[in-house]
Amino acid sequence: MTQAPTQDSGGMPLIRLRNIIKVYGEGGLAFKALKGFDLDIDQGDFVAIMGPSGSGKSTAMNTLGCLDRPTSGEYLFKGVHVEDLDRDERARLRRRYFGFVFQGFHLLPRTTAQENVELPLLYRGETATQRHAAAARALDAVGLKGWEHHTPSELSGGQQQRVAIARAIVSNPVVLLADEPTGNLDTQRSEEIMELLWKLNHEQGITVLMVTHEPEMAAYARRIVRFKDGLLDTDMRNEPMMLRQKTASAEAVNGEDA
Ligand SMILES: Nc1ncnc2c1ncn2[C@@H]1O[C@H](COP(=O)(O)OP(=O)(O)OP(=O)(O)O)[C@@H](O)[C@H]1O
Ligand SMILES: [Mg+2]
Repeated sequence: MTQAPTQDSGGMPLIRLRNIIKVYGEGGLAFKALKGFDLDIDQGDFVAIMGPSGSGKSTAMNTLGCLDRPTSGEYLFKGVHVEDLDRDERARLRRRYFGFVFQGFHLLPRTTAQENVELPLLYRGETATQRHAAAARALDAVGLKGWEHHTPSELSGGQQQRVAIARAIVSNPVVLLADEPTGNLDTQRSEEIMELLWKLNHEQGITVLMVTHEPEMAAYARRIVRFKDGLLDTDMRNEPMMLRQKTASAEAVNGEDA
């Protein structure tokens, strides 16, 4: 890396995207999935990304997570130009700053929750003792203390997604990216996962970027961004669901006092 990310990025947002274009394929088969959009994301934000199927949400997430490079445009992460990094440099950036959660959990079967969560730490050269302790802490944080030695097939969908979230946060990421994290879960499990994401954002200050089709899940975010045809259509602040509940119950308590 030519430029090292710095803690003090001089008033810059954590993430700055400028005129991001992504073209898949070449020649007559070329398809412009992202047509040039700008987006700034501050550290500590919780952004829900919405929009119709095919509008470019996952493509945008892959760009944001440094999994893929835009065809053109600028991506500044902590002031570093991600679009100039090669594959290895992007991988290093991802391991240090990003955690990923997917719709289908992507856990290794026949591998315990504990081992699944330890996996990202294997690349970091930490000792087995450090890995065990960090994984146990992450599993505790997602409410799975006592389930460490279960394999995915012995866990419910909601529990599997918790393991996936523990795996994403075990390396203390600055940004958590989640592409339809509740897509495979029923309403109650989905709400539990959203409460967990909210807690990680609110209490630990992790920046959360989440794709969802469901307005009920987007309601947990601080900001809702909508894509349409490869462009950013709307970008709105939102009063997060969990704060609204708190305000509502505080009002109810005050009402009783009066
Ligand atoms: N690897 C690829 N090669 C070619 N085209 C692709 C590729 N990935 C995505 N596309 C196309 O780019 C467009 C945007 O895809 P993307 O996956 O970003 O949509 P999305 O908003 O996430 O949709 P969904 O809600 O269905 O997940 C789609 O038309 C899709 O067919
Ligand atoms: Mg998608």
